[in-house]
Amino acid sequence: MKLSVIGCGYLGAVHAAAMASIGHDVVGIDVDENKIASLSKGEAPFFEPGLPEILSEGIASGRLRFTTDMSQAKGAKVHFVGVGTPQVKDGYAADMTYVNAAIDGLLPHLSEGDIVAGKSTVPVGTAARLAERVTPTGATLVWNPEFLREGFAMKDTIDPDRLVAGVPAGEAGEAATETLRAVYHPAIEKGTPFLVTDYATAELVKVAANAFLATKISFINAMAEIAEVTGADVTQLADAIGHDARIGRRFLGAGVGFGGGCLPKDIRAFSARAEELGRGESVAFLREVDAINLRRRDRAAQLVIDAFEGNVFEKKITVLGAAFKPHSDDIRDSPALDVAVRLRGLGADVTVTDPEAIANARRVHPQLRYVQDRDEALTDADAVVVVTEWDEYRRQLAPEHASTLARGRLIIDGRNCLDPAAWRAAGWTYYGMGRP
Ligand code: UDX
Repeated sequence: MKLSVIGCGYLGAVHAAAMASIGHDVVGIDVDENKIASLSKGEAPFFEPGLPEILSEGIASGRLRFTTDMSQAKGAKVHFVGVGTPQVKDGYAADMTYVNAAIDGLLPHLSEGDIVAGKSTVPVGTAARLAERVTPTGATLVWNPEFLREGFAMKDTIDPDRLVAGVPAGEAGEAATETLRAVYHPAIEKGTPFLVTDYATAELVKVAANAFLATKISFINAMAEIAEVTGADVTQLADAIGHDARIGRRFLGAGVGFGGGCLPKDIRAFSARAEELGRGESVAFLREVDAINLRRRDRAAQLVIDAFEGNVFEKKITVLGAAFKPHSDDIRDSPALDVAVRLRGLGADVTVTDPEAIANARRVHPQLRYVQDRDEALTDADAVVVVTEWDEYRRQLAPEHASTLARGRLIIDGRNCLDPAAWRAAGWTYYGMGRP
């Protein structure tokens, strides 16, 4: 099927490449010329395992191309809209500028019977508003939220947990549903649940899923706060409650908390939208989820400060990690960099290392020192802080080896990803998050 994908950021570039890989004929469209130039060469503008290979294959097969020319969307049967909805500068709400501009740009190129499939994460009510503009062209608007995780984006797009389509009532909605089934036929044939809903439900599925995940993380981080004053170990607590199948162990990793381009801004946008709808109280707990999450960054920095008896001035502190999570070069709202910036602000001599995210981190926080090589970054450190659980730090850094590099013997495990016994046995003072 001929498809267009408007917006070639994380969501759009991955979606375009994934759709070409399952046999569709795809044009990806974005206003950013640099992005389009790099994608056209088969180069991903961000780090995502597997994406460069699938891009190159798609381009070589002739089924995938990229352009800045919106008129190239003409002739596609389905137009996916996957532009960003970042947090507005002066509040919590989602900035809808890019979604509105994408629809404005697309309208003149739509034909009778086309489908416009919104994928961006939007405030509930957006689809109904946009449908008023799309429907007069003879095209049908559907809402088809995306649940991909960075680092696993190819797998999550080609083989998702579930597919959700919010469609209008009546024949147009039924026809659009059949077309989406055809687009996603390989996953549907494998038994992937395909849920057809109204617009509002589809929009809410996405924000509700992210709100739930954020709440789960903040729940265990709240337990970490209690563990800290009682001497309990939050990782054992998580293991124990996680054995209850109704609770489950996933997303009960206590530490410096969640960051990235989705969870933080999505829970804030959800709160803002609920306020607009007169139901702010229904999701008032999300403010607390956000507050708990941000407190954990303070806590990680405070552990370092306390270890130096209140004064980190000119202490050499090596921060392992800059990305908001491993397998990503994304530093948006990264807890790792937040901790590094706080310590730097207190006069510490901070060195940051990360396997993939240094270039992005340097652009946003040029005041920090960056060293690509892990061992060079560790050399002469008075303290080491792990804030992104890359395998390079979690599995591949033996405490005995770290001892040959660092000057001090202080390790702060902001992700509870190290073996405290092994580090202590090697002579280190170990502090975790919510662990004795
Ligand atoms: C998330 C959702 O998982 C995805 O479905 C949605 O489409 C986009 O938002 P992503 O932002 O890629 O995906 O990251 P995710 O793997 O969910 O992790 C989010 C943050 O939570 C990371 O900073 C991670 O370190 C943190 N986290 C995760 C924890 O602190 N503890 C955990 O147990 C799990």
